[in-house]
Amino acid sequence: MEEVHEEKTLYQAIGGADKLREMVDRFYDLMALETEFEKIRVLHPTAMDQSRDKLFWFLSGWMGGPDLYIQQFGHPRLRARHLPYAIGVAERDQWLRCMAWAMQDVGIETGLQEHLMHSFFQTADWMRNQQEQAHDDQALGT
Ligand code: HEM
Repeated sequence: MEEVHEEKTLYQAIGGADKLREMVDRFYDLMALETEFEKIRVLHPTAMDQSRDKLFWFLSGWMGGPDLYIQQFGHPRLRARHLPYAIGVAERDQWLRCMAWAMQDVGIETGLQEHLMHSFFQTADWMRNQQEQAHDDQALGT
């Protein structure tokens, strides 16, 4: 039987630490620059240097590269760490749109962008902590 070789990690596929750092930096630059990301910008500290470092460290391990976040802080407990911030569908979608834009800007290959967006969606959706009111609640007469 033919031997199955391990595929490249996402970390290797996007181009390692330098490319990942570029992507994270672009993500926070866009968050600061573009008014459409205001809902998530206001949740973050004024100076986002720490945010940049932490997302870079986290994504490094999340994409199969060095576990830089866990080495420093232990288990990320990502959902618990996001509980102080009200995250609903709008915030989730701003985060995802900002990341999609950043990946595009730094020239991540299209197939990889799609793969990553799928995984980012799962994580971002899991971070939601607000009950959304369905628009047609009133139709139920409650
Ligand atoms: C769904 C929308 C999201 C919103 C509104 C959001 C917002 C925030 C905010 C306000 C912080 C705290 C400030 C900071 O330390 O930068 C934070 C921290 C963080 N976020 Fe998010 N985030 C979202 C999704 C995500 C996703 C999808 C990931 C990973 C793929 C992620 C990874 C992180 C990490 C690693 C930290 C640092 C945690 C720590 O304090 O150690 N976030 N986020």
